[in-house]
Amino acid sequence: QIYLYQNEFVAKEALHISPEDRGYYFGDGLYEVIRVYNGKLYEAGPHFARLTRTAEALRIPLPFTEDELSAQLEKLIQVNELHEGSVYMQITRGAAPRSHPFPASAEPILMAYTTSYQRPVATLEEGITAVTTDDIRWLRCDLKTLNLLPNVMAKQHAMDQGAGDVIFHRSGTVTESSSSNVMIVKNNVIKTHPANNLILHGITRLVVLRLAKQEGIQLEEAAFTVDELLNADEVFITSTTAEVTPVIQIDGKAIGSGKPGPLTRQLQTAFEATIP
Ligand code: PDD
Repeated sequence: QIYLYQNEFVAKEALHISPEDRGYYFGDGLYEVIRVYNGKLYEAGPHFARLTRTAEALRIPLPFTEDELSAQLEKLIQVNELHEGSVYMQITRGAAPRSHPFPASAEPILMAYTTSYQRPVATLEEGITAVTTDDIRWLRCDLKTLNLLPNVMAKQHAMDQGAGDVIFHRSGTVTESSSSNVMIVKNNVIKTHPANNLILHGITRLVVLRLAKQEGIQLEEAAFTVDELLNADEVFITSTTAEVTPVIQIDGKAIGSGKPGPLTRQLQTAFEATIP
């Protein structure tokens, strides 16, 4: 498997990362996961825009333009002969002796690789279960940083309960899931948390907002409570890997009929039509 490291294409075995990389010490960096359908980057523009926005907020200077990065990722897809899957890329602030302030001379380090996988057809069809849990993350969840410990702990909590994922809430207000956004349907209206500092501004979330408009489905970017979540007609999560995945049971309670609902199905169909 070939990795992109800075500007070079290298075999995984030949890749050497410094033990002083600040990503390793501090989680001091950012990442993106971009879906690849038919060998092509899906919604690359919005992913690059989010990457740039996160880098600016973290004050990590990007050593390339979006066009240069896009060209390198396309080359990475080619050399790995990837058809279906995704590209993972991360940028850290660089390597320097461990000390909290930004190092004066560190150069940002880019690393990217591809993963091959098929669309998650079983969970798209049948849905998943979830458990609610406290959102103990920081107040900049809109930044896609490498600091994912609360997300990792939460996801494992779901696994330990035999659930597919968690749904986070802050004092009873639903935010998102461990690695996806959450939407509910009540009386034919979709609700999802506003894109502020408390959630990641998911690219799939954006695609679904666009599709809902196109399909004439009413959608409100408005906060909702755990109570509304549990009493929703339909619930689904959205992400690069999960696409539009139904949630059929939460905290042991069936959502709606306990089966994926009609608006979820309609959006899944509309989403499929956007796949090149
Ligand atoms: N996760 N919320 C969180 C906390 C996420 O980590 C993600 C993405 C999303 C959905 O964003 P998008 O639609 O742009 O994928 C929402 C990626 C896939 C991950 O960490 O693997």
